[in-house]
Amino acid sequence: MNPLEEPGCGSRCIDPCILVIFGATGDLTGRKLTPAIYHLGREGLLPANFACVGFARRPKSNEEFRQELKQDVETFSRTTPIDEAYWKNFQEQIFYHRSEFDSNDGYQSLARLLSQIDTRHGTRGNRIFYLSVPPKFFPLIIEKLKKFNLIYDVSETEERWSRVIIEKPFGHDAPSSALLQTTIQKYIHESQTYRIDHYLGKETVQNILVFRFANSIFESIWNYKHIDHVQITVAEEIGIGTRGAFFEEQGLLRDVVQNHMMQLLSLVAMEPPVNLSASAVRDEKVKVLQSIRPLTPCDFEQNVVRGQYRSGYINGDSVGGYRQEQNVDPKSCVETYAALRFHIDNWRWAGVPFYLRGGKRLPKRATEIAITFKDAPGFLFQNQGKNDPNVLAIRIQPDEGIAMKINCKVPGPSSPIQPVKMDFRYGSYFGQSPPEAYERLIWDCMIGDNTLFARSDEVMHSWNILTPLLEYWAKTQPDFPNYSAGTWGPQFADAMIAKDGRSWRLL
Ligand code: BG6
Repeated sequence: MNPLEEPGCGSRCIDPCILVIFGATGDLTGRKLTPAIYHLGREGLLPANFACVGFARRPKSNEEFRQELKQDVETFSRTTPIDEAYWKNFQEQIFYHRSEFDSNDGYQSLARLLSQIDTRHGTRGNRIFYLSVPPKFFPLIIEKLKKFNLIYDVSETEERWSRVIIEKPFGHDAPSSALLQTTIQKYIHESQTYRIDHYLGKETVQNILVFRFANSIFESIWNYKHIDHVQITVAEEIGIGTRGAFFEEQGLLRDVVQNHMMQLLSLVAMEPPVNLSASAVRDEKVKVLQSIRPLTPCDFEQNVVRGQYRSGYINGDSVGGYRQEQNVDPKSCVETYAALRFHIDNWRWAGVPFYLRGGKRLPKRATEIAITFKDAPGFLFQNQGKNDPNVLAIRIQPDEGIAMKINCKVPGPSSPIQPVKMDFRYGSYFGQSPPEAYERLIWDCMIGDNTLFARSDEVMHSWNILTPLLEYWAKTQPDFPNYSAGTWGPQFADAMIAKDGRSWRLL
């Protein structure tokens, strides 16, 4: 990643290519991928020679597929209305290929289609395969792509390139993730593997490194001497919706903590990288994960809380409990909330707790990283009102921005002190909605920059930290449900942080 460069800057080379989407009729393609490709194209960020091929099992003509994608852009794009004139030309570069994922014939005919497109559209053999399919199909599809020479070897002499994007979950725990990795690496090189964690594509997440390392005032106090603790919150108002079957397999820890939250923690805690190359940035993130103190079974009761929502009210509307959701076991023990306390055993973070909480059906959608600084020394102002610690809050979403809480003298002779907020808001400063994470990530893959994608060792270290907990949870019966929809999670989570003399931030 080079967070200082904007997409489209002249120094990056963007080759002609074909993007092949497996699972092209699925939910992710409609909601995220199609609008992202449309926006990239409309903003002039796609290569001049570009084509997109949808690969899926349902029979469909090119024309029908194009119509469906247009409908997706109309429904899910961040800008409206659709640019009809642009779409009319753009759709000529979109094709549909019907096949089963395990059909040899399907891959042979795909190879023929792609080489015809190369001839007609000048895409020069470069390929991105986006696997928007359940993970159980990753090894099969990758093996077939390799078998039919659609994935090329990585070599200095090869002028064409091929890259594979895969969507999380990358495994279910440490052993299954390791197995997945060993299987796919038989066919593709790590440098061709783009593991999407869409949080890394968010503008505000990319800004963490700029904020920390392009401003001299923060880095000198970014350590145990000045910081009391760090809180990372990923709160969601939504429940499980139609994803009951998926969530029953996952739970909150696998769905959000193992990937998005551990990425946020790594970015906040890492050392400055030697440069902004993918390997330098990812090396530093891995060191953070390696320094997290392992949670052992005796820590679980003190450092971890899990929860599951019962029915309740969100914004005045009554909502059902998790066990009443579609495709959820009425006795399910799957967690929809998790709170954890970590320690990072390195020089910078000695003794600084990192509190993480994430959950579904909380009162509002809010993703935030809050750095609470140590109290100011002395008692100069102890009788003059509230003297709160300084807090730096990085709002990842919504209302993206950064706020600093400072103490201030209230005007007037009696001089009471009151905490006030200095607030930077992306929306009001830059005056435009940031691009969607998928736009940035697809574009990065096209230019061959995998900084904003998870490397295999990052994924593995994160699983290593959480797998003992997952195993412990699988063996112990939780007292679920234990929080009402529309509240901030189980009381045990408040008790966990209160034991340290702290409290969760009110968001
Ligand atoms: C996904 C999870 O990875 O992230 C979802 O599978 C979750 O359960 C989503 O809702 C949150 O993403 P965002 O961008 O809405 O914060």
